[in-house]
Amino acid sequence: MTEKQEIYRCNICGNIVEILHNSNGILECCKNPMELLKEKEEGVGTEKHLPVMEETNECVKVKIGSIPHPMEENHCIEMVEILADGKIYRKLLKPGDKPEAEFKLNKKDINQIQIREYCSIHGLWRS
Ligand SMILES: [Fe+2]
Repeated sequence: MTEKQEIYRCNICGNIVEILHNSNGILECCKNPMELLKEKEEGVGTEKHLPVMEETNECVKVKIGSIPHPMEENHCIEMVEILADGKIYRKLLKPGDKPEAEFKLNKKDINQIQIREYCSIHGLWRS
């Protein structure tokens, strides 16, 4: 069974998918079930993985980690996402980029905000 906004990874080929529609089906890739990525909020590495939010008048800036996360070829933040009142804002990052993302939205107009990021080694994190 899958639910909206869950993220699954194939541990054989590395495919990653996000669910847009709830279903009773089981996701498979490379002839094996895909792994549901759990959103971590604490544990080893929080200082380099938990998103830190900064607000200005019309922007929300998200930095990954109170200590900036590495952005190396084999270990980097690949995605930063804001879920705000049913809207999704996402930035894809690559090695060499800064581990941060800026989104044009006014936090004063938002009731609920959730931030997620995906690290190529340490998985999915949420704050
Ligand atoms: Fe990491």
